[in-house]
Amino acid sequence: MIHPIYLDHHSTTPVDPRVLDAMLPWFSEHYGNASSRSHAFGRTAAAAVEQARERVAQAIGASYSEVVFTAGATESNALAIKGCAHRQPGAHLVTSAIEHRSVLDACRRLEADGWSLTVLPVDRHGRVDPDDVRRALRPDTVLVSVMAANNEIGTLQPIGEIGAIVRASGALFHVDATQALGRMALDVDADSIDLLSLSAHKLYGPKGVGALYLRRRPHRVEPLPLIEAGGQENGLRPGTLNVPAIVGMGAACELMIEATGSERTRLRALRERLLATLARELDGLVLNGHPDERLAGNLNLGIDGVQADALLLGLPDVAVSAGAACSTGSVKPSHVLEAIGAAGGGVRAALRFGIGRFNTEEEIDRAAQRIVERVRALREQR
Ligand SMILES: Cc1ncc(COP(=O)(O)O)c(C=O)c1O
Repeated sequence: MIHPIYLDHHSTTPVDPRVLDAMLPWFSEHYGNASSRSHAFGRTAAAAVEQARERVAQAIGASYSEVVFTAGATESNALAIKGCAHRQPGAHLVTSAIEHRSVLDACRRLEADGWSLTVLPVDRHGRVDPDDVRRALRPDTVLVSVMAANNEIGTLQPIGEIGAIVRASGALFHVDATQALGRMALDVDADSIDLLSLSAHKLYGPKGVGALYLRRRPHRVEPLPLIEAGGQENGLRPGTLNVPAIVGMGAACELMIEATGSERTRLRALRERLLATLARELDGLVLNGHPDERLAGNLNLGIDGVQADALLLGLPDVAVSAGAACSTGSVKPSHVLEAIGAAGGGVRAALRFGIGRFNTEEEIDRAAQRIVERVRALREQR
């Protein structure tokens, strides 16, 4: 059986064995319900949840009481955006054109229900201009939501600059940091962030668990819950806590922060190696996203003269994500490529590489070779 080379870490990451080790005892050894504090089983589980909460908080410069566990970043984004908007019916929201669907769809739903919405454009590298944020703000703006790092093109946003502008206006600043934790400097105080979404499975933790940071000081951010059903997580996210997953998320955050500097350097070197090989062997390549201000493990390349679906079909041994950079094939260009103006005419595939913690130089070289062969073969058929 072929074991494909995994280069799709923006989609999800494998659970780090150290994270799995931390989680295992919480399934069948310490299985208490963290809300059942009348006995030791429950109290032990509750203590583990609080330790994980502290670890998540530390990773973003927050205090543990400001972290709410959720089922992932989709839910964190919905709770942040809808929960804050529901406090001010009909108010104004601001977001950017390249946000994850979970942000854009929440904002669009609110717009359909009577809120007003400004969707900011981005430049050709996918950056939001802080001056555009300033110009978009209105006296009735309740929330601005801008992601820290994009999941397709890897572009990092000037979060601190945007945060200062939003803070001065009195609106709340929400950051989807799902792809960003441990990969760029993030500090909720330094960056004037009021709400921040995270997901464990992008951090070598388990799927189905995430967190939402909610500022408590100097002002308290209190979104309305999406589900009203009980008291867990201060009533903001009722339901029995997934203790093993939460423990895993805490461990994953701790490892991510420990590894930050060295991991970034290593991933950047692997990305440069991949790009250098592809650029040496193939012409007609276009880099999508910012040349420098991007996630170290991200490479998004437009490849002229090939269709995305045909390219993937011939690459069973390389796990990458492919989208079109034009609409002539069966695959539609993504909203992100459209927003940066990289979805022009002609036949062009867009390949997204997400290089991760366990990839090796040998894998990068093998993947590059396979892609070169496949692109050449497809171009010869034309
Ligand atoms: C930027 C961004 N936000 C939100 C999400 C949703 O995260 P989850 O899978 O935890 O719901 C993702 C996942 O693809 C993402 O990349």
